[in-house]
Amino acid sequence: MREVDVKTALKRKYPESVVLVITMDKEGKVNFAPICWATNASRKPRTWVLAVNKVHRTTKNIRNTKEFVICFPSEKQIEDVSYCGKVSGNEVNKVKKCKFDLIKSKRIKVPLIENSVACFECKLFKEIRLPKIDHIIFIGEVLTAYISNEKKRLFHWGNYKLDIVK
Ligand SMILES: Cc1cc2nc3c(=O)[nH]c(=O)nc-3n(C[C@H](O)[C@H](O)[C@H](O)COP(=O)(O)O)c2cc1C
Repeated sequence: MREVDVKTALKRKYPESVVLVITMDKEGKVNFAPICWATNASRKPRTWVLAVNKVHRTTKNIRNTKEFVICFPSEKQIEDVSYCGKVSGNEVNKVKKCKFDLIKSKRIKVPLIENSVACFECKLFKEIRLPKIDHIIFIGEVLTAYISNEKKRLFHWGNYKLDIVK
């Protein structure tokens, strides 16, 4: 083994999973953001844990509505997912710019994306703010899960580059 800077060693974790987090503001405006710092953390209850930067619209929306959808986007949705990672819902209405086909969820107000590989409706279980840390940890309890016939999902290859695993 040889010692390197942390950034160099972290490059070895790619490709990593990427999810699209769907949220809504108090007025019902939907927003999407790709998040790679996302994982499951328990079975009882089933949870998703996300690390989201304080300044993102996604953070504001989850705080306000206490709910979100975790979506595995399909390879066909790559352009819209990339776009959602480059701009903030604080400045643009991503629903108007993207071609996602939104469909109703069963237990929460935030919608699902039709033909994504999988979707999970989540209710906020806990928000963790840590001093000096620029990201907020959100833990969501999974209420309902969905799949479609699409199976090829997107991965993060570093530098915010998205692709499938061949
Ligand atoms: C592949 C990829 C992974 C990302 N992962 C994260 C992440 O884990 N946490 C985070 O806060 N931002 C992450 N981002 C950046 C946000 O998606 C991006 O800043 C987005 O514009 C935030 O949108 P919002 O302000 O509408 O919430 C990622 C972007 C890409 C393209």
